[in-house]
Amino acid sequence: MRDIESREDVKLLVDTFYSYVHQDEKMAPVFKMPKEQFERHLERTYNFWDNWLFRTGSYQGGLMWAHIEKNMSYPITTELFERWLAHWFRSADELFKGENTEILKSKALELGQIMNAKLSSMRSASPNS
Ligand code: HEM
Repeated sequence: MRDIESREDVKLLVDTFYSYVHQDEKMAPVFKMPKEQFERHLERTYNFWDNWLFRTGSYQGGLMWAHIEKNMSYPITTELFERWLAHWFRSADELFKGENTEILKSKALELGQIMNAKLSSMRSASPNS
């Protein structure tokens, strides 16, 4: 098995990840959106990881806000974060092996912990959420 070496590899990883997400009954509803919107989301997600690994400048930011906004209409719970990470790790390990693969796994874990801490403090601060 080889490592993630290009944007094409990033796309394969993200697409594989979403094929598991769509089969997960608890996660699929979160990403139920019009096709065009989902395609835009996919492109931004490719950009995010591509930029992270290869410093392409393709991602302009707004990661935390994307989740804060979603969390207001659909609570992103700790359980959903755990499922997200399980699908990400499984997809990465099935397809690739190497330093970049480990970077994408550990970065997702780190971001998941930061975002979950932020969203859960927002949830407990607001009795209506
Ligand atoms: C565990 C760590 C996570 C990482 C690293 C991550 C990564 C990302 C990235 C890169 C984007 C694109 C951001 C942008 O558009 O600028 C995104 C958007 C989004 N993520 Fe996450 N995510 C994580 C967890 C989750 C979880 C647990 C959920 C919900 C179950 C979730 C739901 C969403 C949604 C709904 C969007 C916006 C989709 C849209 O464009 O409308 N994410 N995420």
